[in-house]
Amino acid sequence: MTTIIGTTIIPEMKNFLLCACILIPFLLASCGGNGQETTTAGGSVTTKSTGLNLVNFSTEDFAGSGNCASCHIDLEDQIGNYVSIGTHWRSTMMANAAKDPFWQAKVASEVARNPHLKETIEEKCASCHMPMAYTQAEVRDVSALMFENGFTNPSNPLNPAAMDGVSCTLCHQIVDPVLGKYTVDTSTEPPHRLIYGPYEDPEQSLMISTSQFTPMYAEHITDSVLCGTCH
Ligand code: HEC
Ligand code: HEC
Ligand code: HEC
Ligand code: HEC
Repeated sequence: MTTIIGTTIIPEMKNFLLCACILIPFLLASCGGNGQETTTAGGSVTTKSTGLNLVNFSTEDFAGSGNCASCHIDLEDQIGNYVSIGTHWRSTMMANAAKDPFWQAKVASEVARNPHLKETIEEKCASCHMPMAYTQAEVRDVSALMFENGFTNPSNPLNPAAMDGVSCTLCHQIVDPVLGKYTVDTSTEPPHRLIYGPYEDPEQSLMISTSQFTPMYAEHITDSVLCGTCH
């Protein structure tokens, strides 16, 4: 978990690293978690920590970013750039599309101003900011409301899917993208649910046996319309 690049590691630094590893688990419950790594280069310390673990869950049609990041993490390219998908994704606006306090406040204020449109507003806003929970609720034919007992409530069965925001298994399952509307094929059963990617002939067996999804090439994943389904 500790990579030393460059020259010597000074004793104070060793103590710091030791302290960090003893203290961080208690402070952040994260040391040794999802891909934390400490690099010292010429005395500077860069933490490639992923912070708290990404969420793990499975519903009929989706899985948590943690399920996917368990493999798609701690990656470096040929020249040593850190290119871990899970680590990069977690700090994006989309990973935080549901947790975003400004967004939640905006939905609440719209509802407060238009109480007679509560259901319409909450469901509409959830459809892009909490797309996995919204889609799964449609399939289950249950409420897609956000507040009270809705998606933001930890006791709601779809809360983990909601709070994972615009996540891996949403984007990578979009079929036939059109501007303004994303579609996920919810008719397939695991492990035949397809995860579309940019490479032809991916090695499929590992993901089929562990993640219950099948990786598959699709041209549309490199098309900007994929993003335009929500943007
Ligand atoms: C069709 C998909 C879609 C729907 C439906 C949707 N949003 Fe968004 N929302 C987006 C996208 C995409 C962005 C990011 C836009 C950008 O920055 O270019 C965004 C950004 C936002 C932001 C800015 C967040 C920030 O922290 O800067 C707010 C606030 C917001 N939306 C509120 C709402 C509300 C309220 C509703 C329901 C009335 C709603 N959205 C419905 C797609 C959607
Ligand atoms: C906003 C949509 C979106 C989200 C969310 C997303 N991806 Fe992707 N992903 C893409 C697109 C688009 C590409 C193709 C990029 C390209 O061709 O350059 C891609 C490429 C990939 C690849 C191919 C390998 C590579 O390095 O290009 C993998 C593996 C992958 N994503 C896994 C994940 C995982 C795991 C997550 C969640 C932690 C995730 N993706 C979240 C859209 C998304
Ligand atoms: C057990 C490890 C493992 C897990 C878990 C896993 N993957 Fe993969 N993934 C792989 C392997 C191995 C490949 C194929 C790499 C190759 O062919 O070089 C792959 C390929 C991909 C690709 C590229 C497919 C293509 O054709 O371009 C995407 C996208 C992807 N995974 C997304 C995901 C998503 C989303 C999840 C979560 C549901 C996930 N992976 C979970 C191991 C895993
Ligand atoms: C399922 C809907 C959805 C899809 C598909 C989607 N996005 Fe987003 N995106 C959002 C939402 C919602 C936000 C705003 C989150 C927030 O701030 O609350 C957002 C925010 C962003 C932001 C931050 C904008 C800002 O003003 O800071 C970028 C950049 C972005 N998306 C790029 C992409 C790209 C690139 C793709 C395609 C690979 C994509 N998005 C696909 C829903 C989506």
